[in-house]
Amino acid sequence: EKGGHEYFMLKEIEEQPEALANSLRGHFSGGRVVLDEQRIADQDLRDIDKVFVIACGSAYHSGLVAKYAIEHWCRLPVEVELASEFRYRDPVLDRDTLVVAVSQSGETMDTLEAVRHAREQKARVLAVCNTNGAQIPRESDAVLYTHAGPEIGVASTKAFLAQIAANYLVGLALAQARGTKFPDEVGREFAELEAMPKAVEQALESVDQVRELGARLAESKAVLFLGRHVGYPVALEGALKLKELAYMHAEGFAAGELKHGPIALIEQDLPVVVVMPSPRGRAVLHAKLVSNISEIQARGARTVVIAEEGDETVRPFADELIEVPAVSTLLQPLVSTVPLQVLAAEIARTRGFDVDKPRNLAKSVTVE
Ligand code: F6R
Repeated sequence: EKGGHEYFMLKEIEEQPEALANSLRGHFSGGRVVLDEQRIADQDLRDIDKVFVIACGSAYHSGLVAKYAIEHWCRLPVEVELASEFRYRDPVLDRDTLVVAVSQSGETMDTLEAVRHAREQKARVLAVCNTNGAQIPRESDAVLYTHAGPEIGVASTKAFLAQIAANYLVGLALAQARGTKFPDEVGREFAELEAMPKAVEQALESVDQVRELGARLAESKAVLFLGRHVGYPVALEGALKLKELAYMHAEGFAAGELKHGPIALIEQDLPVVVVMPSPRGRAVLHAKLVSNISEIQARGARTVVIAEEGDETVRPFADELIEVPAVSTLLQPLVSTVPLQVLAAEIARTRGFDVDKPRNLAKSVTVE
């Protein structure tokens, strides 16, 4: 049941702290990150020299987030690719390539076919999946299950946050196998992840504010989303949610690209959602984004700013300021995605659409 909520998606948004806690439980033991099924020998994991993350839709965005963490922790090149594109070019794969296939349902045909292609080329395949015994994990060499629980809303919410956490566990497992992180460092990163359910709980405190904002923005023609670093995939995810639920034109941009084209779209009253990095963690990027927002605001757009609590520098440029708790840079997507999910759902609801069953979409896409 919807647990007193108007729609399942809101219930599932509120279940995110639990989805994260359940997905992390049991994965750090004896001072090591442990996956679920690992049919890849430790030596082979050590020899990995390249990582591909392949997925579709929101799962793809979780991979874009993971790239920042895995490259940083493992000093390995990471390519993130839409599963539907991967197989139809000629990706360079061999025994030392790790392909991480991320899929909530584990049945997405594009991702499954990409997995099959990768295995034919002798790459090692690790599945991150929310559905026990689904086809993708069955055909993979290693599996890490997310435990977000069943997702009823067609638009992914809690499964997406769990995918980010799981991808990070994969990154830590690789770092520990390769020795690019000491055991105590892996332990510290895991402890930070374990603190995230509480941070997401705090991020949920903005739900009422964001719902009210969503109702006010429902008549807009389009909404733009901007972010940088890990905030960039968050912007893409915010835009995807809005397209699929509210049938509105929405686009996510890397904020640094603004001057290379998208700024031409900025006009009077256009809502522009900006995902800010932390002023402490990424001061340089923060300053650049503040400058972007001031330019956007000067052109008459309506700025909606997602920022770390206590970030006073953005206040003068924010027509609406939504605060999220302070967490380390790599973990920010886990908190800053939350208001974007609520915003999309509430714009859709105000426009009179079925938030849980958007038109033309299926929960699991088993055709190519
Ligand atoms: C977006 C959404 C879709 C899925 C995509 C992949 O809200 O739900 O974009 O993320 O179809 O699905 P899975 O993860 O089942 O492979």
